Amino acid sequence: MNTQNLPVDPTYRDAMGQLLVLYTQVDRLIMEICAERIATAPDEAAKLALAKQVGDESRHVAIQREWMETFGTDTTAVINPAQEDAIRAHFRALPWLEFLADMYLCVEALGSEAVEKVVPLADPGTRESLHVPLSDELDHIAFGISRLQHELAGLPDPQRAAFLAKIPRRIEELADAFDGMGLDVSKMFEAVGADYAELCTAVLKRRDEVLEQVAA
Ligand SMILES: [Fe+2]
Ligand SMILES: [Fe+2]
Repeated sequence: MNTQNLPVDPTYRDAMGQLLVLYTQVDRLIMEICAERIATAPDEAAKLALAKQVGDESRHVAIQREWMETFGTDTTAVINPAQEDAIRAHFRALPWLEFLADMYLCVEALGSEAVEKVVPLADPGTRESLHVPLSDELDHIAFGISRLQHELAGLPDPQRAAFLAKIPRRIEELADAFDGMGLDVSKMFEAVGADYAELCTAVLKRRDEVLEQVAA
């Protein structure tokens, strides 16, 4: 880890620290949620992909924790325990197809897009800490998209079209739930130098891209 030239601006360090805590909490939740899902995944290929992802997310959590310690981050949870429970309950209740849409299109693809947008603004050490996690996330997104394509190909056309048509609404509902958690995400992003409106536009563009890929 790069311990040279730690940024001195306390506003930046606090905000980046909060974003790191949030990313680490989300990775840890994904790790738990995917671990639980292994038992009911529909086939061996899906079970193996989920198990690999559990290992990846565990590594991301370890990398981020180590970096946060060097960075001197206040590691107080950003998402509270009740909110964590609600997120676990949401994913636990989802059928396989809906699980794929919410986990891979929304959390993995759109969440990673937001993190990717922060990378060029980040200090060298933070950037380095995100390198391995973000490259693994690409793998997770690729699994989610190809698996969704595979499952949808097995559905009758009207059902396939109906499911695809409902995905934007699912993404909106998850975004609303995230907004409802009361985290001042826009403030955190702005404090690390991101233009929040631009970031939202990039996330929406990414949403359209992944939807196109799934529908292809
Ligand atoms: Fe991750
Ligand atoms: Fe991931």
